[in-house]
Amino acid sequence: MKLEVPTHVGIIMDGNGRYAKSLGKPRSYGHKAGADNLKKLCKHILKRGIKCLSLYAFSTDNFKRPKEEVDYLMKLFVTMFTNNFDFLKKEEVKVLFSGRKEGLPEDVIAACEKIEKQTQNKQKYTLNICLNYGSQEEITDTFKKIIKQIQNGQIDIEDVDKNLISKNLYQDLPPLDFVIRTSGEKRLSNFMLWQSSYAEFYFPKCYFPEFDEAEFDKALDVYRERKRRFGGLNKN
Ligand code: IPE
Ligand code: IPE
Ligand code: MG
Repeated sequence: MKLEVPTHVGIIMDGNGRYAKSLGKPRSYGHKAGADNLKKLCKHILKRGIKCLSLYAFSTDNFKRPKEEVDYLMKLFVTMFTNNFDFLKKEEVKVLFSGRKEGLPEDVIAACEKIEKQTQNKQKYTLNICLNYGSQEEITDTFKKIIKQIQNGQIDIEDVDKNLISKNLYQDLPPLDFVIRTSGEKRLSNFMLWQSSYAEFYFPKCYFPEFDEAEFDKALDVYRERKRRFGGLNKN
């Protein structure tokens, strides 16, 4: 029997800095370890048949960090999207980026656009990378997009419903079924608020570089134990 897996999983990849600190290393060491872990984890998640994976890689608010750390992360993103994710091109994975381009360095934007283009015709799986992303910013941008459509006469105010709003977000993805945040913090920090309205949440204590294949499988076991009701009643 095939065990049920969530359709859309979100991962808030947190704890790189504390991981490095626990080893007496600089924060950049933790980010590199996180990136290395992500590559292995993506392969594993694909094998588990998860159709859609959203990753919180860098929040709009992360620009508040020291320039040195932000610069390091931006360089790491370029390396990741050009080299580490090479294996994805052989898979049926469409890579998408969610977030505002303004504020991102040119080479990061170029790397994102390249991999998006290279994978645009893939259909089976979706990898949505949230970069310079904030959910309240996304909802604000969606408001503006819809208001423009009303002003242009493309749609009527009566056409605005939750389905139309969902379709006008950065990406038209299924709702999140399962949100995992590593490092023990129990908050969303502006991650996919609209999309997670009926998501199940899981907060493993380990730092993201330690969240390996076995930890992911443990998370799936936890998900399978949950009883989702969506406001209704369970059958049994
Ligand atoms: C997550 O790890 C990575 C990013 C936010 C880019 P952190 O850098 O937030 O690590 P902690 O939370 O300080 O340990
Ligand atoms: C959220 O983590 C963003 C990412 C994991 C990319 P943060 O470390 O930035 O969140 P806070 O500051 O602890 O809420
Ligand atoms: Mg953090």
